[in-house]
Amino acid sequence: MRRFRQFPLRCLQLPAGMRDSMCGYGGERKYGLVAALELVEQHRVIGCRTYSNRCATMDHATMFKTRVVRRDAGTMQIEDEDEVWFEELYTLDKKVGEGSFGNVYKAIESVDNAVLLAVQVFSLASPIASPQAKVDSEEAKRKLASFISECAMLSRLDHPYVVRMHESFQSAGSLHLVLEMCQGGELYNLLVRKIKEEDGLEEVTGQIFFRQMLHAVGYLHAGRIVHRDVKPENFLVSGDTDRPEELVLKLCDFGTATVLTQQKPRSMVNIGTLSYTAPEVYMRKGADLPADIWSLGVVLYVMLTGTNPFRNGKETSKQETVKRIKSGVFATQRAGWLKVSEPGQDMVKKLLVLIEDKRLTCCEVGAGD
Ligand SMILES: Nc1ncnc2c1ncn2[C@@H]1O[C@H](COP(=O)(O)OP(=O)(O)O)[C@@H](O)[C@H]1O
Ligand SMILES: [Mg+2]
Repeated sequence: MRRFRQFPLRCLQLPAGMRDSMCGYGGERKYGLVAALELVEQHRVIGCRTYSNRCATMDHATMFKTRVVRRDAGTMQIEDEDEVWFEELYTLDKKVGEGSFGNVYKAIESVDNAVLLAVQVFSLASPIASPQAKVDSEEAKRKLASFISECAMLSRLDHPYVVRMHESFQSAGSLHLVLEMCQGGELYNLLVRKIKEEDGLEEVTGQIFFRQMLHAVGYLHAGRIVHRDVKPENFLVSGDTDRPEELVLKLCDFGTATVLTQQKPRSMVNIGTLSYTAPEVYMRKGADLPADIWSLGVVLYVMLTGTNPFRNGKETSKQETVKRIKSGVFATQRAGWLKVSEPGQDMVKKLLVLIEDKRLTCCEVGAGD
């Protein structure tokens, strides 16, 4: 099947009726198409095929008929071309991750067989026509909206601790999001390994990781972007070493991220992950930037103690977890918490603060670093 190379803005040619169907659906995650549209209206510069850590940018007018290709190492050339097959450029290899809308694969660039990338594949087509067809098409719309939102967001981000998007492709049957490859996988798995093998992550490593997280989230917040799903599964490990202190974390998964504006000072869509979501979201006040800070507080607690501050594994029901989060009272009697240093405990306490205005900001945390 022929595929068209697709830059983010072009993805906005959406099927009729799609806009109405996008906001809110079952399960934990919800995506707002409106957010994606807003993004594109406000930010005309997009990222596209990039090499050597440089981000090529161009405006609306040029992007529809151009393709950016590598000329020499580190330089770009824009050529007239608007159709490329994803398969002409990349070869998919083994699966490296599972997403709610599509699996992520290791991929190799066909041209020189050397550049290693990660590609998230969203399949839109229903495998067989069935009574489920309507449901499938609704699912396809949601996937497309998530893809649009994530592309629009990722294409404008350029930060060492944020996963880099190289390009994206769209066809009738599938969507491909080409990302820099993070070989070390999810931070979550690293933490699980550390807990099994060595009594958890060393506090000093937790500090290093946390600082990187702050830089990533601080970068987003400087542009009034709220991520809305900060958790260890969404920090990927880049680097190939056994020495955790040398690893670099990259924030990924921008399907839930949105830009806050004067017209939309808070994100009211009900999204996130149960035990990382801020109390104000459960109180139906929506999310402002401090919602990510709360989630960072949960992540820090998890890194330092190997447990979740508001739940005790499966023993704690969903309702009980939400109740505890809304009360702002987290577990402080566990052995894991008691062995955390005073500054470590102090930091968590300043992040897991019920009143948003009293929570530290990324800048404040950095200042006290
Ligand atoms: N750039 C990448 N490099 C390596 N693995 C990745 C990359 N992007 C995603 N993954 C893997 O795929 C998983 C799902 O991707 P993610 O973007 O988080 O999707 P979802 O929104 O469904 O959670 C990640 O948790 C991770 O394991
Ligand atoms: Mg994810």
